Order: sequence, then C-alpha cells, then structure tokens
Amino acid sequence: MPNIEVILGDITKQAVDAIVNAANCSLLGGGGVDGAIHRAAGPELLAECRTLHGCETGKAKITKGYRLPAKYVIHTPGPVWQSGGYGEEALLRSCYRSCLELASQNGCETVDFPSISTGVYHFPLEKASRIAVGTIAAYLAEHPEIRRVRMVCFDARTKAHYDRALAELA
Ligand code: APR
Repeated sequence: MPNIEVILGDITKQAVDAIVNAANCSLLGGGGVDGAIHRAAGPELLAECRTLHGCETGKAKITKGYRLPAKYVIHTPGPVWQSGGYGEEALLRSCYRSCLELASQNGCETVDFPSISTGVYHFPLEKASRIAVGTIAAYLAEHPEIRRVRMVCFDARTKAHYDRALAELA
C-alpha cells in the first residue's frame, strides 16, 4: 500500500520537505491556500515567484520555503472546473504528477498537498479526491524515493472525501 495519509490541518504549518501551493498561472499570489502560503512564507517568496514568469495550468514550478517550516514550495495552477468537457480531469492529474516529478528531482522525501482546485476553482470534491489519490498512488508505486505524501485538508468535509478516496484505493 503506497504511503499516502490524509490529515486535517493547515498546510503552512507542516514541517515537510515540500508543500504544494494551489496557485494561479501568474504565480503572484491570491486568496485561499495561495494567500495563506505567501503570508506565512513572507515577501521573499513573491520575489522568487516573480522570477519564474508564471506557470501553465497542470504544470509546476518550485521555490524555496523561506519562513515556512517546509523546505520548498511547489506551485501548480489547477484547472478551473467548467463542465468537465474541457480536459479538467486530465489537467488535475497533471498537476499532481508534475508536482511529484519536481519533488523527486529535488530530493524531497515528504510532500504535502492541499486539495487542488476544489475551492475557488470549483472542481467537484468527489471527482478531485479520486483523481488526486489515484495519481499519487500510481506515482509512488514507481518512485520509492518519495517516502510519504499527505493530503492536508482544511475542513472536515474535504477530509471525508479524501478518506473515502483512499479507502476505495485499498
Ligand atoms: N491549508 C490547507 N488547505 C487550505 C488552506 C490551508 N492553510 N487554506 C485553504 N485551503 C484549502 C481550501 O479549503 C480548499 O479545500 O485549499 C483547497 C483549495 O482551495 P483554494 O485555495 O481556493 O484553491 P483553488 O480552488 O485551487 O483555486 C486557486 O484561488 O487563491 C486563489 O490564487 C489562487 O487563483 C488561485 C485560485
């Protein structure tokens, strides 16, 4: 069984090798978890993000964590849910995979994810949680260098969906 955990918590408090930021394509900050991460990391995070010149939906870019307890932040713009007919599911899978590939390339053994796209971007939580857990499990099966991945859920409703998606995997 791949080492995936689901916890309730604030991702900005997690002392892991990398936390993932549910960003937007500008990489210049925003609300939600993006705003929380930038507030906790301090202004140097935005300064480094400015040098990255944005990021495509489904891709990922890495920065240092600065004042965060995490060593790195991996920024990925998730897809905005429209109707399901615009490749949203494939793009969300790509977010998780791109982040894990960057984590492997940067020697990260522990990686924490928020629930990408299920806030402001309105991706249905039931679908998103299955996509997330399925993509992470498939990657970990091939990449033992990543020791643990956690989904850090900010509320009980989100956690319930990820718990169910993980249970369905078993
Ligand atoms: N720790 C963990 N999860 C959090 C935190 C936190 N501190 N704050 C919010 N979340 C959760 C939300 O509750 C939601 O479950 O992160 C999930 C993703 O929600 P959003 O942050 O709204 O991200 P997303 O839906 O991907 O929308 C991205 O929102 O903030 C802007 O700049 C961002 O434009 C981008 C868009």
